[in-house]
Amino acid sequence: MIAPSGWGSVAMNQDGTANTPPYIQNGQLMMPNVREMDCLFCHFQGYNNVMSSVFAQMGILNAAPMAGAGLMDSCPTVRHSGYNAAMVDLGPKDANGMQTVSLKQSVVDNIKRLPPSANCQQCHSPNNMKDLPDMMNGFLSSAPMILNTNANNPMVGPTGLIMPAYDFNSPWLPNTVKSPLVDATNLYSYMVKGLLAAQGSTVYNRTTVNGMTSFGGDNQGGSGPIFYEAPVTDIGLTADYPGQQNQNVLKKSVVPFPRADWFKRGDAWQAGQDVHTMFGCAGCHMDTNSSNPDKNQCDPGRGFDGSGTIEDGSQIGTKIDTRNTVKRCESCHVTGTNPDGNTVDNLNAPDATAAHQRAGLTA
Ligand code: HEC
Ligand code: HEC
Ligand code: HEC
Ligand code: HEC
Repeated sequence: MIAPSGWGSVAMNQDGTANTPPYIQNGQLMMPNVREMDCLFCHFQGYNNVMSSVFAQMGILNAAPMAGAGLMDSCPTVRHSGYNAAMVDLGPKDANGMQTVSLKQSVVDNIKRLPPSANCQQCHSPNNMKDLPDMMNGFLSSAPMILNTNANNPMVGPTGLIMPAYDFNSPWLPNTVKSPLVDATNLYSYMVKGLLAAQGSTVYNRTTVNGMTSFGGDNQGGSGPIFYEAPVTDIGLTADYPGQQNQNVLKKSVVPFPRADWFKRGDAWQAGQDVHTMFGCAGCHMDTNSSNPDKNQCDPGRGFDGSGTIEDGSQIGTKIDTRNTVKRCESCHVTGTNPDGNTVDNLNAPDATAAHQRAGLTA
């Protein structure tokens, strides 16, 4: 939706225009600063939050769920009416040549009763950030985006943002050499942890990377890993000096954003570092048998972390928050019940009492 029809709730509730308060800029896209979660975000194994974020940031909001779930191709094929052929079965054609499209059984099987940990971790609890591919796969909650001012570029959405080019190799090289060119001949030797080591056209590789047979790389050493550069000549201006940069691209692009709990806890969730990681988030946050009438079926069990601002005991409308609904240490290790006294599955946790007594902790 384009302003003046709206700019979030301000525009919905007040009649601002470019000339009357609250001075909404006509022609700008209305984009609430909120990610809308669909059911598959949590319940579909393999959901890709970063892809969904690309479409949300491009302003193509109606395509975000399909990009996240991968149920549809971003380049719709006529044959499947946009559905991703790997995800659907086609029924027999009727007299008019129409076919039913249904989800493959394997896709339906990926819809899980209790959301897999990986789904929660799309937004919470980074895995680690050992290297650049890890940063992309295990640390980010949204995609980096670059402003592209080329109105004729079919890949540019209403907000003018597209995914930027990246190169995992170029930052580590001296600026006297260029990073390896990744093309159709060497593609497979440049796969790192499921990602291509370099992708996209940059100011350095425009003449060598075409997107069809060459995919990325050939960037100047010391540049990247994500490229937010575009010369002013791209927007039809005459450069005052060679390579003069378009400041708008530098300022209006979006840097990648870490997952929420990085800021809250500075913590990572890695297998092998805590005996409890093997239970996944579900072990403590789901099936908690809570009696709290405000906890709905999709509400993960919650603690008392005031820094989250939603467990501070405050009233939201007629409801209070749903804190104290998570399984606590003693729920599994001592009492076998949740804070309401209802029995929970304690996953055969060892009783801590004897060990605590020996250490003088129960005195
Ligand atoms: C924030 C992640 C999240 C989203 C989004 C979400 N759910 Fe859930 N859902 C959960 C969690 C967590 C549970 C398990 C809660 C528990 O047992 O404590 C659950 C449980 C359920 C259950 C109960 C399954 C059972 O057999 O007990 C159903 C049904 C369900 N969700 C359907 C939906 C639908 C439909 C939507 C979209 C409207 C949706 N969910 C969106 C997280 C989510
Ligand atoms: C699309 C992103 C997203 C997904 C997926 C998601 N969450 Fe959240 N979650 C959030 C946001 C945003 C908040 C609100 C944080 C705040 O206000 O501090 C939140 C709040 C919470 C809270 C309360 C935290 C607090 O600090 O008050 C818990 C617990 C939680 N989520 C656990 C889960 C679990 C378990 C799953 C998987 C079933 C899950 N979340 C899936 C984004 C997500
Ligand atoms: C061993 C049990 C356990 C496991 C496993 C676990 N959590 Fe927690 N988590 C807790 C407890 C207990 C708290 C509440 C701490 C408090 O009261 O402040 C908590 C707090 C949180 C919070 C902060 C908000 C809040 O409610 O205080 C988030 C977000 C969260 N967990 C997400 C996750 C995610 C995502 C996973 C899976 C990757 C996970 N947790 C796995 C027990 C667990
Ligand atoms: C969902 C149930 C559950 C919750 C909640 C839980 N634990 Fe555990 N915990 C277990 C299980 C099961 C084991 C045994 C794992 C193993 O040895 O393979 C364990 C093991 C442990 C151990 C190692 C004990 C030993 O003898 O080696 C410690 C310490 C521990 N938990 C502390 C905690 C603390 C502290 C909390 C709260 C933050 C907590 N646990 C919450 C289930 C739970």
